Amino acid sequence: MDRFPTTRTTAPKQKPADDTLSFGKVLTDHIFLMNYEEGRGWFNPRIEPYGPLSLDPATSVLHYGQAIFDGLKAFRGDDGQIRLFRAERHAERFNRSAQIMCMPEVPVDIIRASFDALVGVDADWVPRKAGTSLYLRPTIIATDVMLGVHPAHSLLYFLILSPVGSYYKEGVKPVKILASDTHVRAVRGGTGEAKTAANYAQSLAGQRDAAAAGYTQVLYLDGVERRFLDEVGTMNIMLRIGDEVITPPLAGTILDGVTRASTLQLMRDWGLKVTERAISIEEVMEAGRHGRLAEMWGTGTAAVVSPVGTLGYKGEDILINGGQTGELTQKLYDAIVGIQYGRTNDPHNWTSVVPAAA
Ligand code: COI
Repeated sequence: MDRFPTTRTTAPKQKPADDTLSFGKVLTDHIFLMNYEEGRGWFNPRIEPYGPLSLDPATSVLHYGQAIFDGLKAFRGDDGQIRLFRAERHAERFNRSAQIMCMPEVPVDIIRASFDALVGVDADWVPRKAGTSLYLRPTIIATDVMLGVHPAHSLLYFLILSPVGSYYKEGVKPVKILASDTHVRAVRGGTGEAKTAANYAQSLAGQRDAAAAGYTQVLYLDGVERRFLDEVGTMNIMLRIGDEVITPPLAGTILDGVTRASTLQLMRDWGLKVTERAISIEEVMEAGRHGRLAEMWGTGTAAVVSPVGTLGYKGEDILINGGQTGELTQKLYDAIVGIQYGRTNDPHNWTSVVPAAA
């Protein structure tokens, strides 16, 4: 018997060919939904055919953006098993975002069960081609119908799924990023640590300007001094100067990335020198000018491990490792992907097999 009431679609969609997948353009056949009312808690978890939500135009999320989400992936291994990568940690981070955004947490076991249940129902949607996966997007929105600004008393949790290829059009080739001296992403005491809609809305202008200048993404500097590296918005940033790997610390302005934590763990397992510290753009550019900036890469669920080939700042471009993927970047990519597809040993038990649906 299904753990959650399940209404299966009678009109399954045509699935795209794996080699046409990019990021997030196709959604699967089903959605998981659950409601919240103050005094009652979370109730009515269910799986339904995928379709539009009906919202009153005065629904508070549409006006004040009280919304959180997370993103994780399911992978089809060579052995045919479907595995989630670090589902528990994603569920915990989702609840951290809920706390920051004044929303009720969802019990981690229910979040985990919603992942397994929906992926189980839409298991045929997990693509097979190397480098593809099924992206899970758990979300909570405020559903009070009223125009006053206040934390919502009623909310909706939903989970949708999308078969994906690579996030960047470059695929796993090095991307060009621009350290912005005009746009900032977050300040301490703000929402930078939460995966909330507003952080992505405010990234659009910087992204537009970076794209117009020929860059793929923006590297944000801290919002106060505009000197220290924060994150890229769609990924955390890491770099190697000599034999030291450096990444900005979790100080409230950047996302506690799951791939960030996983790659840091792997590098520590390998005995590398890894430092989480504030690093200024001047230090990075100076290292770049003198050939000491050996590698730079971003980490994220969507981006996996993405090499940075060019770093731009105030009209100067630094070519990193001749614009090629660095050795450590490639090793990290291979190690993460190997664990995700169940090809290699999973020493920290980061993956969990999704049970087949009833
Ligand atoms: C992710 O990596 O899961 C993200 O959420 C980044 C972006 C697609 C919003």
